[in-house]
Amino acid sequence: MLRLIPLFKDLSDSDLALLGDLAIEKPVSKGTVIFTEGQDGDSLYLIASGRVKVFIGDEDGREIILKILGPGDFFGEMALIDKQPRSASVSTLESSTFRVLSHQAFELCIEKAPRIAAIVMQALAKRLRDADRKISTLALMDVYGRVANTLLELAIVNNGKLIVGEKLSQQDIANMVGASREMVNRILKDLSERGYISVESKTITIHDQKLPPSF
Ligand code: CMP
Repeated sequence: MLRLIPLFKDLSDSDLALLGDLAIEKPVSKGTVIFTEGQDGDSLYLIASGRVKVFIGDEDGREIILKILGPGDFFGEMALIDKQPRSASVSTLESSTFRVLSHQAFELCIEKAPRIAAIVMQALAKRLRDADRKISTLALMDVYGRVANTLLELAIVNNGKLIVGEKLSQQDIANMVGASREMVNRILKDLSERGYISVESKTITIHDQKLPPSF
């Protein structure tokens, strides 16, 4: 399984074997909170299957989704690296299987296989780039642009069609762009009526990639 993770494709057999020996398999059902922002953290999670959302919430139950992660991604590394509390909460969007590395195992991996540290640094740099993009989108675009941009960022080609790779509820999209569900509903309806997208049982197909002018 570890060999199939793109991030680990350049690791030697012995490095992979070390990871495989130290990472404990953990199946988790849908809707489980893995940990909450502010908790002490002592493990890193590799996603073998399933999907999770990384989010920050407030006392009123509102949340902003920072990222949806899937097979081959990992999370929980930040608290291990800087020894600070968890920076965000993580919960499963579907039943998932993780390979969990304890803090001790993580440090042993890095000591014995420094290439793993380089991989984690690469992933952190990518996350920072994504976060920078998200900050600029939130600061510079109106809600219409933010919704359109989020759909395009999640788009993948499937059977020759450009579709949004995640099955998202309108509330999920609202939580990703910092808007109300009602607003997202209005925007998706408008995009559909103008032929930019079509929505069928939570699958969004994109027909035109040009961002529409705001309404
Ligand atoms: P940690 O702070 O230990 O716990 C929360 C985890 O969520 C964090 O480590 C990262 O693995 C992950 N995380 C936090 N912010 C982001 C982000 N913007 N994009 C992707 N993952 C994130």
